[in-house]
Amino acid sequence: MSDNSAIKPLLRVLAGERLPAPPIWLMRQAGRYLPEYRAIRQKTNTFLELCFNPKLAAEVTLQPIRRFSFDTAILFSDILVIPHALGQHVNFESGEGPRLDAIDGPLALNRLRQEVDHTVLTPVYETIAHIKPELPPTVTLLGFCGAPWTVASYMIAGCGTADQLPARLFAYRYTDAFAKLVDLLVESSASYLIQQFNAGADAVQIFDTWAGVLPAVEFQKWCIEPTARIVALVREIIPGAKIIGFPRGAGTRLSRYIAEVPVDAVGLDWMIEPVFAREQIQKRRPIQGNLDPLALLAGGEALNRAVDSILEAFAGGPFIFNLGHGVLPETPVAHVERLVGRVRGAAAK
Ligand code: CP3
Repeated sequence: MSDNSAIKPLLRVLAGERLPAPPIWLMRQAGRYLPEYRAIRQKTNTFLELCFNPKLAAEVTLQPIRRFSFDTAILFSDILVIPHALGQHVNFESGEGPRLDAIDGPLALNRLRQEVDHTVLTPVYETIAHIKPELPPTVTLLGFCGAPWTVASYMIAGCGTADQLPARLFAYRYTDAFAKLVDLLVESSASYLIQQFNAGADAVQIFDTWAGVLPAVEFQKWCIEPTARIVALVREIIPGAKIIGFPRGAGTRLSRYIAEVPVDAVGLDWMIEPVFAREQIQKRRPIQGNLDPLALLAGGEALNRAVDSILEAFAGGPFIFNLGHGVLPETPVAHVERLVGRVRGAAAK
């Protein structure tokens, strides 16, 4: 990792540097808003087949790099490959999101494997090996996994839900069983990330999309503690592993998150108060974010204003430009082009 950190802007920011032009990449930068993604997507029957096809997944990873010269290529896969590798049936209905065999009580946990089956995940590691030689030397290859709370919430509900009520209820009713599931996900995610580093990832991001629905006590127990354990387990094997945390919706609890989870940078969602983020978070840890994906979709002056105010708030410290959540499928490609031009152009002034 240290060998190439000098020429990769993202790794320099993760090491605490402020760059005059903040590196930029977007969550879900590979996806349905790109015509070339939709063309490749048609080549496989299911979304998981695409995730497990190293050649096609590598191609899809590289598409946004070619088009926009982003500073980071995020591995094309999904957080739900972990439940799949634990033996839970996972399917993606087009337009409806993921469907899993719901874990409706403690007994259903017995259907899962005791540890992740890496043979199922081998194609993901092969994808990384395919991407690596194709990347310009300045581009960081970012692996990822879902955080245990977020992955567990899909495993229990069997689908996306508004506020993850099924998982929150399960964790109150069957706390010991839920803790066991979280332990299993901590072990699985850590070994998955270690394999991603071994295959060639320069850094990884841990997505906790549903962190924001948890009350304070549960945020500590199901978001902070498991994520900190993953970071520790990964660094036991990969010392100095570069890790970005993204506890979406954490709000003021980000202070506690960065105090207790030694991530190298923290992702901000678009709802965060900018002065709080700059004074309380960015002074302690590099930050990444946080354009509202809807401002990107809207474009025009709304996009310009949103980009400028983010640069004004955060470009004075260690900062990675990103969205506050993923690119929406309806987003015009031209708006992404304008965004990249504006972020890079502002730095040139
Ligand atoms: O470009 C990238 O960011 C890399 C690829 C990536 C995908 N999913 C591809 C994908 C990443 C990093 C993810 C993470 C992911 N997956 C998260 C965490 C981040 C977030 O967005 O909140 C979550 C919660 C999931 C689970 C998931 N996968 C859902 C809820 C859905 C359906 C909703 C949707 O956005 O389509 C998916 C499907 C999915 N994952 C698609 C893509 C490109 C669309 C499927 C398709 O093209 O048919």
